[in-house]
Amino acid sequence: MSSEPAPILSARDRPDWSVTAPAILTPRGRGADDTAASMVRTLFDRPRWLEPCHLYDERGSLLFEEICELPEYYPTRTEAAILEREAGALMGLAPVECIVELGAGFSKKTIHLLKALSRARGRGTFAAVDVSATALMASRSMAEELFPELAFTGLEARFEDAITSITRDIPKLVVFLGSTIGNFTPTDMLHFFTHLCEHMGPDDYLLLGVDRIKDPKIIEPAYDDARGVTAAFVLNAFTNVTRATGAGFRPELIAYRSGYSPERTRVEMVGIATETHRVDFPRHSASFVWEKGEGILVETSRKFDPDDLQVQLRSFGLESLGHWTDPNRWFSLLLFRRSKDSHALESK
Ligand code: AVJ
Repeated sequence: MSSEPAPILSARDRPDWSVTAPAILTPRGRGADDTAASMVRTLFDRPRWLEPCHLYDERGSLLFEEICELPEYYPTRTEAAILEREAGALMGLAPVECIVELGAGFSKKTIHLLKALSRARGRGTFAAVDVSATALMASRSMAEELFPELAFTGLEARFEDAITSITRDIPKLVVFLGSTIGNFTPTDMLHFFTHLCEHMGPDDYLLLGVDRIKDPKIIEPAYDDARGVTAAFVLNAFTNVTRATGAGFRPELIAYRSGYSPERTRVEMVGIATETHRVDFPRHSASFVWEKGEGILVETSRKFDPDDLQVQLRSFGLESLGHWTDPNRWFSLLLFRRSKDSHALESK
């Protein structure tokens, strides 16, 4: 474990980041004000909604880890089994020494890939990107303990900021697991892949884990578990908003609802007012009336057809190198590399 963080950021952008904890960096000038502003922006939109990154304060990150262990929540264990089985093959197809994980969380599933990296190359770099400091510290402890031969850097940042600043000089495997991409709206997805592909170097690879379209009878309980962990996780966003903005959300007047929309192939998770009441934002000199039965959309979890996704991503210059799934075909891992065409474009 090197004490100096590996040069995962471009030399040009490095001064824009500051060290907040050992081996953890965050962009300068991104703080509480940005968080509060982004919350107010969407809460005063119609329909009202929140960005999913606001789910992950310390309590949210811990609740999410709990969700991953629930009997109803199949994605984590299904994806972990595929990763465990295929990590060696994957690292064989993507001959890199650097793994960048977006939305790393506690990086538990990533262990399979890091093992394969370490076994194949004997050294390397692991950069974890997450908005949650709690998650990054867990990820750092894991990396220090299990992979002292790999240099760890945690980037406490939104994806856009990390993608912009990561160096293009080291070939890397960008991993985006757990179907986190499912949080994106179709428009978010266009922006995300445009931005990512713009910043990917010529020898970079992308590993995507996606939850697949399937019988809603399997999907729905995964987002409305018997113990109510998912409800607590989603409604925790309102506590987080209250802390960040000073808004007067009242937990006793908010109920959790979720459902799968086959048309949009996504689960929608909302907080619903159980009574009409006013929500004040004293710091912003604003308020709104939250009508009984009106939902605030806190999170969406889109499901994918992996073949369609491959076609879509080809249009961004991402060439498919492999597709692995489980026996039920519930979850897919997709590996891409920047296609030769985009090399050509780039060298012009
Ligand atoms: C982290 C976005 C992949 O959509 O399955 C799980 C989040 N929310 N249960 C998902 C989540 C409620 C999860 N992702």
